[in-house]
Formats: sequence, C-alpha cells, structure tokens
Amino acid sequence: MKSVLSYPNRGKWGLATYRGNCSGYLIKDLLEFYKPRTFLEVFAGGGTGYEVAKELGYTDSVHLDLNPEWGGWNALKDDVPICADFIFCHPPYYDMVIYSGEVWGTAHKDDLSRAESYEDFIRKLDFVHEKLFSSLSVGGRLATLIGDCRKNGRYYSIIKDMKYFGTLESHIIKVQHNAHSMRKEYQGKFIPIVHEHLLIFRK
Ligand SMILES: C[S@@+](CC[C@H](N)C(=O)[O-])C[C@H]1O[C@@H](n2cnc3c(N)ncnc32)[C@H](O)[C@@H]1O
Repeated sequence: MKSVLSYPNRGKWGLATYRGNCSGYLIKDLLEFYKPRTFLEVFAGGGTGYEVAKELGYTDSVHLDLNPEWGGWNALKDDVPICADFIFCHPPYYDMVIYSGEVWGTAHKDDLSRAESYEDFIRKLDFVHEKLFSSLSVGGRLATLIGDCRKNGRYYSIIKDMKYFGTLESHIIKVQHNAHSMRKEYQGKFIPIVHEHLLIFRK
C-alpha cells in the first residue's frame, strides 16, 4: 500500500449498485497489510467488507449497519458487540447519498445521512468514532474512509471538522472512480472532487 490509492475497478465483492459503496480492493489491501485477528466493519452497506472478509478466511468478522439487511445496528444507540483489533468504518458523507428511505427501507431519524445540519452530522460522527475507538483493543486500529463534499457552493471538509482519536498513523488519498460528482456538469465553476480520505488511527 502507498499513501495514494487508485482502484479503477471496484472488484467483485458486495453490491456494485449500492449507492456510495467502496472498492473491495481497499478492504482486502488493508486486511492483508495489517493482518488483524479480529475484524469489525461498521456501515457495512452493500456487503463489500463482508464478502472480502469471508474470502480471506475470517469466520468471525462482524459487519453492522442500520440497514435491516445487517440487523439494523444503530451506531448512535447500540453497543459495539466485539473488541476488535481492526475496524473499517465507511460512514455517509453527510447527505451526499441519503440512505434510509432511499437506498433501503423507510426514513430513520438516526441515519447519519439524515442529520439535521452539517454541524449535527459532525457531532454524530464524532460520537460514533469515539465509541468505536473506545471499543478497540490496545494497539488496534480504526480506519475511516470519508469524502469531502460540496453543497450550494460551500465546501465541506469532514476530515478537517471531525475529532481525531489516538495516533493518526496514516492519511491515505483514495482516487474516486465513477463518482456521481464526476458526472455532474459544473461548467467550469469549481473543481470536481475526485478523491476520498482514508484515516488510520492507532490506539
Ligand atoms: C457509505 S455507505 C457504506 C457502503 C459500504 N462500505 C459498501 O461498500 O457498500 C454508509 C452506510 O451507513 C449506514 N448508516 C447510516 N446511519 C447509520 C447509523 N446510525 N448506524 C449504522 N449505520 C448507519 C447506511 O445505511 C449506509 O449503508
């Protein structure tokens, strides 16, 4: 792995049609690099991490999401069920994609993509990260994949506004392929966002 990653093909893992899904190659590379004994994925969405973990032989990895397909685990209310040494976390990028009521089921008030405002989203994201970080084993890692977004002309840098926990061990830029923003016509008004951030925090 290097500090800039690019996977033009998302791979065979998980639902390619799940809005905002990520490439399974990213999760595969992380698991092969860090070789954690216990793996937890939160915001499991279209099942990318689940399928990668099974292929790599993880029989007891845990994958959670508010989506009822994954048991309806609520990051704002529910406990973290295991003490993992690696957590992959891929939250909504504020309201870039609305999940409950659009991607699945009906609108849920604790869906992070339905936060009342950007400030409310950041508060909730901080709360979830703190909870996840506390649940890690000592020496464990929390890897969060998050993008920047632009709305009504304002640029939102989530990684600038959110809280950090433990030691920031790596900041990786992941090139985005086929992102929705790349298909929008900006007519030269501003530069389209074609990257995401992967932050790796060590406890
Ligand atoms: C960016 S998607 C994850 C995509 C996934 N990595 C994939 O490859 O398919 C974000 C996920 O966060 C979930 N989510 C939003 N609010 C949540 C909450 N309060 N608790 C748990 N999951 C939540 C959504 O249901 C959605 O599946």
